[in-house]
Amino acid sequence: MAVSRTPVKVINHLDRDHLRQALEHDVTTGLTAASKWLPPKWFYDRTGSELFSRITRLREYYPTRRELSILRQRSGELAAASAADTLVELGSGTSEKTVLLLEALKSAGTLHGYTPVDVDAVTLESAARRLSVTFPLLDIRPVCADFECHLSRLPQNGRRMVAFLGGTIGNMEPASRAVFLKELHAALRPGESFLLGADLVKDPARLVAAYDDAEGVTAEFNRNVLRVINRELRADFEPEAFTHVAVYDERHEWIEMRLRATRRMRVWVDALGLAVHFAEGEELRTEISAKFRLEGLRAELQAAGLRVRRHYTDPDGDFALLLAAR
Ligand code: AVJ
Repeated sequence: MAVSRTPVKVINHLDRDHLRQALEHDVTTGLTAASKWLPPKWFYDRTGSELFSRITRLREYYPTRRELSILRQRSGELAAASAADTLVELGSGTSEKTVLLLEALKSAGTLHGYTPVDVDAVTLESAARRLSVTFPLLDIRPVCADFECHLSRLPQNGRRMVAFLGGTIGNMEPASRAVFLKELHAALRPGESFLLGADLVKDPARLVAAYDDAEGVTAEFNRNVLRVINRELRADFEPEAFTHVAVYDERHEWIEMRLRATRRMRVWVDALGLAVHFAEGEELRTEISAKFRLEGLRAELQAAGLRVRRHYTDPDGDFALLLAAR
């Protein structure tokens, strides 16, 4: 069936060179550090995005379902309170939750534009196409960018609500979070708003289970970062020689995912001319996923000049959505 729609053009701030340099930099820094680490953004190639999407459907992984249930109940209030006509979504991925917000803004009669922002151009383009069918009048301007460095380059049109959902803010350490929130504040105009989804502190056993599922999907997701480095930088990691580890750090109130070497190993990263040595049992940190308390979040937002206007949690108090205003 022929469907008429405005063509969607992706604005790209991330050419292959930029991505490549960032990966080289991160791998060099992380794998030569005394305590080895890698940033979580390199999980998400095609396979990684698929694995993450399987994670969101796991029995143990509650955040996605909880956030969806809050959105289902509150998107009308959020649309009204923000009075936004343009939705900007950071780390939009497949834009599944977005539909609820777009529907609400449409019912409120304000909806005009949508800007999904993601590092993965392919996912971005297909999500934008799908939404252009559901919302034929919507002005869709996808931006391929790293929201940690390109916030000031987001399209300026309309009265915006910037949504950062899923608890992805938990991937940042407190210092980077403060910088990110300040930059976000600087990118917003008075009257615009910020919608934040954050996972809350809870029973450590449930947290650990959510990051160490029985089926081993999270373990495969974790090992995927090694496959990405093998492919992109011609490295010879043996993903199967690493065990998936998920621990809850009570002091920092964050989950850490690590990959533990099951034996002594030497890994060659050909594109960097770099040899990396692992001792038996040595761990490589691949992700932190911070868990929050409402009061702490309110204070962090406030410190960046963002005032919390509305906050909601699901009935079990597992997950929070906050609407803040510039
Ligand atoms: C996409 C960052 C929100 O931290 O819960 C899921 C990623 N890692 N299982 C999270 C993730 C392991 C997820 N975020």
